[in-house]
Amino acid sequence: MARVMKADAAGVREAADGLAAGALVAFPTETVYGLGADAENAEAVARLYAAKGRPSFNPLIAHVADVISARKLARLDAVAERLAAAFWPGALTIVAPQAIGCRVCALATAGLDTIAVRIPDHPVAQAILTTVSRPVVAPSANHSGHVSPTRADHVLADLAGQIDLVIDGGPTGVGVESTIVACLGARPMLLRPGGIPRTAIEHVLDARLAEPSAARADSPLAPGLSASHYAPRARLRLEARTVKPGEALLAFGPGSLPGASEARRVLNLSVRADLIEAAANLFACLRTLDAAGTGTIAVMPVPREGLGEAINDRLERAAAPRAGAAV
Ligand code: TXA
Ligand code: MG
Repeated sequence: MARVMKADAAGVREAADGLAAGALVAFPTETVYGLGADAENAEAVARLYAAKGRPSFNPLIAHVADVISARKLARLDAVAERLAAAFWPGALTIVAPQAIGCRVCALATAGLDTIAVRIPDHPVAQAILTTVSRPVVAPSANHSGHVSPTRADHVLADLAGQIDLVIDGGPTGVGVESTIVACLGARPMLLRPGGIPRTAIEHVLDARLAEPSAARADSPLAPGLSASHYAPRARLRLEARTVKPGEALLAFGPGSLPGASEARRVLNLSVRADLIEAAANLFACLRTLDAAGTGTIAVMPVPREGLGEAINDRLERAAAPRAGAAV
């Protein structure tokens, strides 16, 4: 059962300590209440997806206290810097290429090489982020499919049994989520309308924002649209019941498969068949097996309940033929 604390110094300290220890902590931002987790802790991020009941691993926004921290996560080009100077802290999220050395876990970015970053303008969010001193991913603190929470009791109504702590800072000001703009080299693109009006952004840039419909179907700008947006180079063979010669094995649970002892490499998503642990390990395991240069990765069946639905969704996307590739 989630504890509720006032947004005073003790609450901020508890929130920061909790986040650093891998807890799920809901806190107010000026847009909506966010459900925070340490962005570098894949297991905490996996628990966050599970708590929200998100059907798939939608990439998350990394929240930081200041622009120096933001630049450690994302490569901000001239357009992004201009937007940052005009609207941060505030209800603007910028999607940009990940900076070298960005330590946000691959699960939080859904395996993309871009990242969404925001500096919230709420004294409580600012205090927590400054104290914890690491990036915090925070989707809206509601159960997936419900409307975003603008008060602490909305958070409790949806998530009381799933999260550790709620910091009650009263009703949020903006009430809708941040505006998301992608700054990826080409024309900046409005990915989600939100708390900062398009016109204010276009005024600062002295240019029109491109529309997401202009994005190609295989563009990483639109996560989820492309069947294979983070597919590894290796082929994935799902629901494997044996390991064929030359294959690597991505295992799940304590059991084994015929042929496993001959596998080029074996990694296990979770020896104890824990779906939260498996989700936390998924992207890293795929990357490691891919880097080993195997042609085909045999993947043991993963049950579809709980986070298993999202894990299977991601595995199926990774197994799908590359968009544009002649397969
Ligand atoms: O106001 C807000 O933005 C709130 C507060 C808590 O900060 N957060 C929020 O997060 O609305 P969430 O997870 O509900 O929405 C994040 C959106 C998703 O639509 C996701 O697809 C998009 O950001 N997103 C995240 N990373 C992305 C990326 N690398 N490229 C494109 N879109 C991305
Ligand atoms: Mg949301």
